[in-house]
Amino acid sequence: MNITIVGTGYVGLVTGTTLAELGNDVFCVDIDEKKVEGMRNGIVPIYEPNLEEMFLRNIQAQRLFFTTDLKEALDKSEVIYLALPTPPGEDGSADLSYVLKVASDIGEMMTEYKVVVNKSTVPVGTADKVRETISAKTQIPFDVVSNPEFLREGFAVEDSMNPARVVVGCSSEKARDIMSKIYQPFTNTGVPIIFMDEKSSELTKYAANSFLAVKITFMNEIANYCEKVGADVDKVRLGMGSDDRIGHRFLFPGIGYGGSCFPKDVKALIKSGKQEGFDFQILEATENVNQNQKVILVSEIEKYFGGNLNGKKIAIWGLAFKANTDDIREASSLDNIKILLEKGAEITAYDSIAEENVRRVLGDKISFAKDMYSALEGADALFIATEWSEFKNPNFELMAKKMSNKAIFDGRNMFSMEQVEGTGFYYKSIGRKT
Ligand code: UGA
Repeated sequence: MNITIVGTGYVGLVTGTTLAELGNDVFCVDIDEKKVEGMRNGIVPIYEPNLEEMFLRNIQAQRLFFTTDLKEALDKSEVIYLALPTPPGEDGSADLSYVLKVASDIGEMMTEYKVVVNKSTVPVGTADKVRETISAKTQIPFDVVSNPEFLREGFAVEDSMNPARVVVGCSSEKARDIMSKIYQPFTNTGVPIIFMDEKSSELTKYAANSFLAVKITFMNEIANYCEKVGADVDKVRLGMGSDDRIGHRFLFPGIGYGGSCFPKDVKALIKSGKQEGFDFQILEATENVNQNQKVILVSEIEKYFGGNLNGKKIAIWGLAFKANTDDIREASSLDNIKILLEKGAEITAYDSIAEENVRRVLGDKISFAKDMYSALEGADALFIATEWSEFKNPNFELMAKKMSNKAIFDGRNMFSMEQVEGTGFYYKSIGRKT
């Protein structure tokens, strides 16, 4: 099948590459000429494990193409995926202007039947808006389908090639048949495809992300309470997660959730609720708790240094909002750096993958180290903000030699208590004994 993907951001690029890998001819459209030129020359514009290999393979097989010309791509494809940004507006609601602009262009340019598939995370009712926008421009028949994406950054290729399920919101037989055909390689291997109406599909995406955000946040509160009563969150987590109604995943406490999805989607669902006169109380609480959780270790660092951080040298390991990505959107590291700098601390950070993105935001407000140990040179404390695997089993002796004071504030519970015991380090993590 010939498929067009409009928008080559995270979701668009991974979806396009996956659909090419499944044997389709895929035309990726983006307005950014430089990016399109780069992709034509085999440059993957994002960091994502295993993506480059699949991307290059499909370019070479002539199944994956890039263009800035929407009309050209449209003429070649019956199915058009929209993978456009829906950034939060000032009031937290999703800004649909990119989606609706392209919908309007499609309405103007199309010359025969099309299925327009919404991959972006969009508020309930967006499929109707896209339908109205296209209808205003053309008499030619078309269908609008909602097909939310559930991939995680860092595991995007794995998740998109092995989805737990495919959700399709669709009210036309014809579009349903086309979507079934696209996802047949998955359904053939037992992946369920769940058809529903467009609104339920749109809400499924927000409900899934918000639920996971609540799950993490609940565990963060339990962790904070563990510290109050002297319990160990690792044990509680195991005990709880072993009940398969709860499950072990997304129960890891830390310095809050970040990234481009959970914070935005929780806010957008709260906002959509308000527009209907509905209060998502649990989500409002989640947002507040998460905001505090992100910087919960700052007060611990301050307490440790007797209330004065002026001139203290803090090393930071990890800047990305989570491991295996260069993405720093809503990263907890940034919230912490901001406060630490305000309090007069000097910061040297190490994150070889996310460094460049942080440089763009913070310039020379902090220093960057070329490896994890040189970040520790003369440091009064180490703060761990991202759970990169290279931090899992460090050489504590070498760390002690480099640092001028032996203190670790671990926002990701990287080490077991046994690992740290006997090293002489002061070790503060989340929800466990100090
Ligand atoms: C999330 C969802 O997991 C995907 O299913 C969804 O498709 C995606 O949003 C999206 O809407 O596009 P992502 O934001 O890439 O994916 O990252 P996650 O792995 O879900 O992590 C989100 C945040 O939660 C990170 O800051 C992470 O550190 C934190 N987290 C995660 C915890 O603090 N504890 C956990 O146990 C798990």
